Amino acid sequence: MNILVTGGAGFIGSHTLIELYKAGHSAVVVDNLCNSSQESLRRVAAIVGIEHIPFCQVDIRDRDGLSHVFDAHHFDACIHFAGLKAVGESVEKPWEYYDNNISGTLVLLDVMRQHGCKNIIFSSSATAYGNPQQIPITEQCPKGQCSNPYGWTKSMLEQVMSDMQKADPDWNVVLLRYFNPIGAHPSGLIGEDPNGIPNNLMPYITQVAVGKRPQLGVFGNDYDTPDGTGVRDYIHVVDLARGHVAALKKIGQGSGLSVYNLGTGHGYSVLEVVHAFERVNGVSVPYVIKPRRAGDIATCYSDPSKALDELGWRAQYGIEDMCRDSWNWQRNNPDGYR
Ligand code: NAD
Ligand code: WQD
Repeated sequence: MNILVTGGAGFIGSHTLIELYKAGHSAVVVDNLCNSSQESLRRVAAIVGIEHIPFCQVDIRDRDGLSHVFDAHHFDACIHFAGLKAVGESVEKPWEYYDNNISGTLVLLDVMRQHGCKNIIFSSSATAYGNPQQIPITEQCPKGQCSNPYGWTKSMLEQVMSDMQKADPDWNVVLLRYFNPIGAHPSGLIGEDPNGIPNNLMPYITQVAVGKRPQLGVFGNDYDTPDGTGVRDYIHVVDLARGHVAALKKIGQGSGLSVYNLGTGHGYSVLEVVHAFERVNGVSVPYVIKPRRAGDIATCYSDPSKALDELGWRAQYGIEDMCRDSWNWQRNNPDGYR
């Protein structure tokens, strides 16, 4: 299939491109590079052994720009990664998040249907469950109250796409709820390249390990968890990328509306991740306990069995692989793509 990959220069998009090409698909990337670099696409091309990845520097809110892309290519489906994703920033700049993520996706969906492309895989998030009613979280678990505008954009866009699919059954919509993606391609050539101070745990750990930051702050050790620190379902980004390829197979069969958790089903605490990282990589990660971070929950991990039953997909990599590959990327690229 020929796939439009919005946000394809970013962390998850770049890893997904590799798995798409490996599975025999082709892709065109649309990205405005607001949180990424074209260098990631050059490296993806080197990994898959092609001259270049077709790329259009377009903002998904730019209807004319997007229409030109669709005029120039035939797409069988879109994998829609483009969006802003920093939770804290979304609290400071809610309008910018609703505009970018929601207006952008509304324009994309409209241009898609005008061009007769009604197959979409959407990057949603476990954040849509809010403070989950049950652990492990199944897709049956009701969506909850999000603690920030970023989360609401995901929850609202799920609703938009579900309603569109209900009104027009020609649409095939796959909502993928990611848990906590970390790790990097085993080549060490591509990985996560956050701007400024990392918000998420793993990039913070790798920047401490490489000497860019003095110590990790652990946000709270008084949660109701085995060691008091927050528990999450970390998933290797290569596994996550393969989940999209599996979802494409499903979409090709005319799947209607479907939603899947992409996680491993295992929860690790902050301190378990820190100690696994130190053990696997032989480096030290000094840390200090800090107060809880606003909006955090104690425990969040998936039941990923629906994706196994219906997509034949399950995560292959463990926490040691994730720690090793995150460090391999950071050590080889201390300044990311710069
Ligand atoms: P990322 O920031 O690395 O990638 C997003 C890409 O979208 C970037 O390359 C950015 O330049 C591009 N982009 C943003 N707004 C755009 C616009 N208006 N027009 C065109 N391009 C635009 O983030 P990621 O970690 O790769 O996440 C990909 C998707 O997965 C996002 O939608 C994110 O919300 C979602 N997601 C991420 C996580 C996570 O922890 N990384 C978890 C759950 C869901
Ligand atoms: C993980 C654990 C922190 C940083 C976020 C978004 C979610 C999704 C994935 C996009 C928590 C602790 C973290 C640090 C710490 N993204 N921590 N010190 O919060 O589970 O999920 O990313 O959709 O929507 O909310 O991920 O990596 O920020 O935190 O102690 O410096 O690590 O408190 O327990 P989170 P995270």
